[in-house]
Amino acid sequence: MNAAIRSIVRVGLQRGLRMVGVHHGYSGLIAGDFIELRAFSVSNIIQRGGTMLKTDRSKEFRTPEGRQRAADQMRRIGLDALIVLGGNGTFQGGHIFSTEHNIPIVGVPSTIDNDLYGTDWTIGYDTAVNTAIYNIDKIRDTADALERTFYIEVMGRATGFIALDVGLASGAEYISIPEKETKLEVLLELFNRQRVTKRSNIIIVAEGEDEGGAMNLAQRVKAANGMDYRVTILGHIQRGGSPTARDRILASRLGAFAVDTIIAGGRSTMVGEMNGHLETVPLIDSFTKSKTIDGALIELSDLLSM
Ligand code: F6P
Repeated sequence: MNAAIRSIVRVGLQRGLRMVGVHHGYSGLIAGDFIELRAFSVSNIIQRGGTMLKTDRSKEFRTPEGRQRAADQMRRIGLDALIVLGGNGTFQGGHIFSTEHNIPIVGVPSTIDNDLYGTDWTIGYDTAVNTAIYNIDKIRDTADALERTFYIEVMGRATGFIALDVGLASGAEYISIPEKETKLEVLLELFNRQRVTKRSNIIIVAEGEDEGGAMNLAQRVKAANGMDYRVTILGHIQRGGSPTARDRILASRLGAFAVDTIIAGGRSTMVGEMNGHLETVPLIDSFTKSKTIDGALIELSDLLSM
């Protein structure tokens, strides 16, 4: 997100706009927690994870009174438009706010989950996937040396985008995602077949899959075939760290495009990248329509995990 903030601020200034940052997300908007941003304010942040502006999940912004206060704060200091960085929740709030108060809002898709319709990639996703793979490669060494089965749970909310890419790239023996039914008998059959050739396994489990996470799945397999296991929940390690080049470039492009979309009259709009091109979609579509997972990747992962 820092790379996007840097791009928004510097492109906005070059286009002759006044740029103001809001600390702590919608909570800061309600409180009027603003900061004037200059080109140097965003120096030395492109390589840092997180956000220099901090963030929050504001309960008050979910109420009409909270949103009224936020609109009053913006008008008080003469702000005409808002660029919001976030995922599902941020965009839902942004869309209501824009419609209720006639304030132009452009959303920059920023979530590790990659679960927003209207963009092939969200900012943070590539870094999260690479962080997971980096750590799973290390776990693989123990799995291999001790001939163990590891169930590794990755984030992704209700979707399996992270799990599928992580599973494919780390050579997982099985990937359990919400978009595909996890059949216990398939997993048992896989372990059975492997007994002669292979004794270590990496099973990637999306946090949102229907078996209830890595621990549940591991216990169900053990109850059926007695197979010992270890569980690793990667957790928030996936949400931090220095961003990959791909994320920095995506964030820089989307940030600049968000400014130009505001100038071009965007109202409640999300900027995204589709098939390599910068595109806009109505903000409401980003969270009401669903993005489909690539079925060919699921088939490939089934083929490769022998
Ligand atoms: O939406 C991003 C995400 O990291 C999800 O993958 C995860 O389910 C959730 O946020 C974790 O949220 P929190 O930091 O509030 O526990």
